[in-house]
Amino acid sequence: MDTITIREAQRNDMPSIVDACRASTTEEEMVGFTAPEWGTFRDIKKLREIWTSGNRLKDDYEVIVSERGGQIVGFLVFKREQEFMYIDQVNIRKSEQGKGVGRSFVEHVERLAIESGLTRIETDTTENAQGVPWKSYDFWLKMGFRDTGERLKTKWDFKTIPFVKRLS
Ligand SMILES: CC(C)(COP(=O)(O)OP(=O)(O)OC[C@H]1O[C@@H](n2cnc3c(N)ncnc32)[C@H](O)[C@@H]1OP(=O)(O)O)[C@@H](O)C(=O)NCCC(=O)NCCS
Repeated sequence: MDTITIREAQRNDMPSIVDACRASTTEEEMVGFTAPEWGTFRDIKKLREIWTSGNRLKDDYEVIVSERGGQIVGFLVFKREQEFMYIDQVNIRKSEQGKGVGRSFVEHVERLAIESGLTRIETDTTENAQGVPWKSYDFWLKMGFRDTGERLKTKWDFKTIPFVKRLS
């Protein structure tokens, strides 16, 4: 099996990124866990609107992609805040899930954070109205993130669950 490589995304990766996003989870699975207007990475027109230059999006978010055999199998969006690194989202094609791609992404972002002198990574997921967390909850715990215990209300039915990981 080809090894996974991670690199900065480029504008012409947009179609593959949208394709990977759509192949990572179904619309039905997302009902109750996400806002309807959060579909930016599932819609190339919306993604084009926020892509600025290089691997950058509006508000200085950055995109990296993972490839196997020259094919994009997933992408991760992060932002370097002043005091911490923020992982905004990560999506791996279903056919490639459970093979270590998510872990290699998180480890890559950890290295970037350390290189930037940051000592903390933050991310979040959601829980639905029944208090059931989105299916990536255990992935974040596995990656060494701590559930802060907060449940932040949103204007929709779901709440946000913030996670934090301290880097030593
Ligand atoms: C969540 C996601 C990014 C994880 O990536 P992945 O490549 O499948 O994960 P990995 O194979 O690197 O798994 C790393 C570890 O986490 C565990 N893990 C991964 N997903 C898990 C899950 N849903 N529940 C429990 N454990 C999980 C793996 O078993 C593995 O543990 P191990 O190293 O002890 O074997 C990926 O499944 C995905 O894209 N899901 C759909 C979109 C999504 O939920 N994104 C996150 C939004 S908050």
